[in-house]
Amino acid sequence: MEKSALKDQCPKVSIAPMVDRTDRHFRYFCRLITRRSLLYTEMITTSAIINGDRHKILDFDQFEKPVALQIAGCDPREVYEAVKIAEDWDYDEINLNAGCPSDRVSGNEMGAVLMAYPEKVAEMIAAMKRATKKPVTIKHRIGIEGKNVLPDYFERTLLDKYEDMMSFVKTVEQAGAERFIIHARIAVLEGLSPKENREVPPLRYKDVYKLKRELPHLNIVINGGIKTIGDIEGHLRYVDGVMIGRAAYDNPFMLAEVDKFFNDGKVNNITRRQVIEGLIPYIEKIEKEGVKGYAALVHTLGLFFNKKGSKTWKQLITPPWPEGYSGKDILFKALDSLPQDVLDEAVLA
Ligand SMILES: Cc1cc2nc3c(=O)[nH]c(=O)nc-3n(C[C@H](O)[C@H](O)[C@H](O)COP(=O)(O)O)c2cc1C
Repeated sequence: MEKSALKDQCPKVSIAPMVDRTDRHFRYFCRLITRRSLLYTEMITTSAIINGDRHKILDFDQFEKPVALQIAGCDPREVYEAVKIAEDWDYDEINLNAGCPSDRVSGNEMGAVLMAYPEKVAEMIAAMKRATKKPVTIKHRIGIEGKNVLPDYFERTLLDKYEDMMSFVKTVEQAGAERFIIHARIAVLEGLSPKENREVPPLRYKDVYKLKRELPHLNIVINGGIKTIGDIEGHLRYVDGVMIGRAAYDNPFMLAEVDKFFNDGKVNNITRRQVIEGLIPYIEKIEKEGVKGYAALVHTLGLFFNKKGSKTWKQLITPPWPEGYSGKDILFKALDSLPQDVLDEAVLA
């Protein structure tokens, strides 16, 4: 496929992979609010796909599309096998995690530690490309601090220079990665918790802009600390797309507005009432399948972020529920009890 065609396909806004958050229920909820954003799964390890309960791990509702599957792995053969298996699920993109700093992941040479091994990453990307015709992308950091983690033969463990990132990206590009999603801070592989690794190392947006400027043919998506529509607008002047993580989870209704950034896109002028009404048949369906309604509703706690009624919403959907109530009953009760003006407030007044 021509690079220019891929550029057109670069989603202007995507919702970041987040373990324990971006499961199928959250994605369904998101899709009610943003029709255009690309939604990512949580990180799924290659061994979970190969050895685990595949339906449980990979099934999703067609309504969620477009959805990108993020995999974490370290062995090209396993990566190939996992992507081949996932082909039956028809994800819209397969993404490799090279940005997650958690011990569990980097201890297995998965996630951010892979940035020290660009050739190996290139092999994995090539294996993924052999296994699927779908776009193959990578999510990584601007660099890593690998002190006490990388083997002694590394002359430097602090791989945080712009040139380090550039060299990594060029090697991975050779293997055919079609988009680079860059969390604009380094990952410190030892000594910081995953949470601290999303907050402590400073954001270096300018390095990501520079990469796009120097390699303009690449699809570059920026990630990290992006919270508002204004922030998104600002970044889109320099890069092809923006990925939002925590802000999308904490304030999901914001996503109604991001559809305007897509080609021919416009604000999804929906109300919170319509979102709740959209959830009712979904909750009914999953409860019939034996899934607890709260498993989905827990991801909607932020729907009234910074609005009157936020506390009531959280109290209503958080168990214990009144005796005999189903998720559907809770949602009808919410439609009755929440401030009607907030329920009916559309994005465009
Ligand atoms: C709870 C949580 C889980 C995360 N899990 C993943 C993951 O599975 N894969 C991944 O690449 N990044 C993961 N991340 C990192 C996010 O994708 C994102 O890069 C990071 O939060 C920075 O973006 P933000 O400032 O918009 O949240 C996670 C972040 C959070 C908060």
